[in-house]
Amino acid sequence: MSTLLEQLDQLEQDALATLHNASTSEALQAWHTHYFGSKRTKGALEAMLGLLSSLDKAERPAFGKRANEVKQRLLEAFEARKAQVKEAELAAELASGQLDVTLPGRPPTMGRLHPTTLTHRRIIAIFKRMGFEVYRSPEVETDEMNFGLLNMPEHHPARDMWDTFYTTRSGVILRTHTSPGQIRVMREWGENGTRPLRVILPGMVYRYEQVTARSESQFTQIEGLVIGRNITMADLKGVFAEFARHMFGSAGQIRFRGSYFPFTEPSVEIDVYLGTDTPRARMLTKGTGWLEISGAGMVHPTVLRNGGYDPEEWSGFAFGMGPERQAMRVHGINDIRYFWQNDLRFLEQF
Ligand code: DAH
Repeated sequence: MSTLLEQLDQLEQDALATLHNASTSEALQAWHTHYFGSKRTKGALEAMLGLLSSLDKAERPAFGKRANEVKQRLLEAFEARKAQVKEAELAAELASGQLDVTLPGRPPTMGRLHPTTLTHRRIIAIFKRMGFEVYRSPEVETDEMNFGLLNMPEHHPARDMWDTFYTTRSGVILRTHTSPGQIRVMREWGENGTRPLRVILPGMVYRYEQVTARSESQFTQIEGLVIGRNITMADLKGVFAEFARHMFGSAGQIRFRGSYFPFTEPSVEIDVYLGTDTPRARMLTKGTGWLEISGAGMVHPTVLRNGGYDPEEWSGFAFGMGPERQAMRVHGINDIRYFWQNDLRFLEQF
């Protein structure tokens, strides 16, 4: 009897001593498993209780009572130690400086506007100051709007100026230019050909073309349309001189070169004079002093009529320009494919 009780005392002492020295969560867990066992192993305390049967009946109650005391004592000591260790571990973690709660937060990376969006906004802002409204028209168009109503009936040779993406729906295409918006805005905002118009029509266009450094199968255009009772080529000239002053900071000198578009008569290409004084001007104009910026002309009577206006009473001018081409010149971009490849190394430069 005395030996078993002594062994129990010894176990208690040993257990308390090792518990005192356990200073990590892992050591505590190991201690607990050693004395109280786990799912698969018997603990040291339980093993000792198993020896109960080897005692005389008379000695058993005293031993059992003592064993219970030891168990309670150890469990209480364990909980107390566990709380201490946890606190110490937290304090150590904070002291090690890995978490500095005073550090400012990580700033989110800001997106940027696409160079085309930036160019569009600049151009649109300039025209808005001259009283233009913005009209948006669809990218999926009818053949009729894109060609027919713009004075290019079926089989008209001028259709070859635009290589077209057709859809599986007959008569439905991707617009090859923003000009069909002219018909739509005349019909929608023209109040049956009674209201003067000053609108700008920006948007994406599509061409079935070999993609190279100089030509893409998608790009944007900015179309303009002015309709009134006494609109002449002089108005077109004035508007573009003003535009050139704001867009390029030029003196506002422009020139018209004769051209051909089925929906205008007469038709012109517009160049703006930037001079050759500065390296930038020489770069933009390839040394000639002139930068080509737009196709334009007086709206063809047939187109006016298709928009609901009487060409005997009303006249107008229209123009269409390519913002990417202008952005390429302004920013020295030598490959048009960069615009729609979504390569961040390119886009982040703007
Ligand atoms: N739509 C023409 C093109 O894509 C550009 C253009 C030229 C538009 C003359 C016009 C215009 O409104 O008057 O090539």
